[in-house]
Amino acid sequence: MNAAIAGFSHVGVIGAGQMGAGIAQVSATFGLKVTLYDVCKEQLESARAGIRKSLEKLAEKGTVTPPQKESGLSGIQFASNLEDLKSCDLVIEAIVENEDVKNELFSKLDKLLAPAAILASNTSSIPITRMAAKTSRSDRFIGMHFMNPVPLMKLVEVIPGMATSEETTIRITKLAEGLGKEISRSQDYPGFVVNRILMPMINEAFRALMESVASKEDIDKGMKLGTNQPMGPLALADFIGLDTCKSILEIMHEGLGDPRYKPCPLLVKYVEAGFLGRKTKRGVYTY
Ligand code: CAA
Ligand code: NAD
Repeated sequence: MNAAIAGFSHVGVIGAGQMGAGIAQVSATFGLKVTLYDVCKEQLESARAGIRKSLEKLAEKGTVTPPQKESGLSGIQFASNLEDLKSCDLVIEAIVENEDVKNELFSKLDKLLAPAAILASNTSSIPITRMAAKTSRSDRFIGMHFMNPVPLMKLVEVIPGMATSEETTIRITKLAEGLGKEISRSQDYPGFVVNRILMPMINEAFRALMESVASKEDIDKGMKLGTNQPMGPLALADFIGLDTCKSILEIMHEGLGDPRYKPCPLLVKYVEAGFLGRKTKRGVYTY
């Protein structure tokens, strides 16, 4: 018998990249039935291996109990067919940070899911109101922004769109809290709160690197040891994904109309080279 949190018992997660895999892992650890879907079979396989490794590490440390580890391992169905999500009462989208691709997916989900089901987007920056308005359930559409790495990071930003009902916001807040997270609520402006403040720092680190103010190691060391951050901004950009950082900056640049958000040409160049950070084994650093 699966658990239910805030009335949700079957959660669909779309996108088995670093975020989707983490969201699926945490949801299953807390007893929810999870279906994790991706268009790419290899991504599903690497998500399965990553989730196992993460749970083993967390169990070793005592952060998850043996039963939690077991439900994390057995509670996720890995799916290559979108139809498998039909009975979900909540679907959390965590695919590539591209509005057109997300809209296309939401349009399919809108037709597939029961009318009462809720759609949540893990987008880092794309306006929730705009994506919600393209579905027939804008009152049951919300931003649920987990942080990376999901199993370790405490925060979830909750972003109601203009039409999101208070009931949806309350249920999603309770769900995130039920998954052991702290909530910060944000208005629906591009980048919300965390990325609006984080991305300009990352962009400035690329500018400093481009202008040879210091080496990548010294830029990161300066910020890591000088401002007590767990990793420097260039290492963090590699960790997030340089393609994702560039997309977030572009969405904030376009949506807020301020040139300070324009992605640094050096960041753009890395993405054009296909050096996307840890996920491609090469970004600012080599892994
Ligand atoms: N599951 C389980 N354990 C994990 C893990 C995971 N997914 N990821 C890392 N760990 C473990 C490591 O195995 C390691 O364990 P040991 O202590 O036993 O060796 C431990 O966590 C520490 O990891 P590392 O030694 O590799 O490195 P670290 O000390 O730097 O910690 C980190 C890693 C937790 C990622 C830390 O560097 C950190 O907090 N970095 C900043 C992360 C951050 O800012 N995230 C937000 C990004 S912005 C965002 O998410 C929003 C957006 O839209 C872009
Ligand atoms: P990622 O590149 O690691 O994974 C994206 C996954 O989506 C891939 O497995 C890809 O195969 C899959 N995908 C692409 N199009 C799809 C489709 N139409 N249907 C199903 N699957 C599809 O990306 P990520 O870093 O996990 O980011 C995912 C989302 O989460 C983005 O919106 C990103 O902005 C957001 N986010 C990222 C971070 C971060 O630190 N990386 C943090 C918070 C939020």
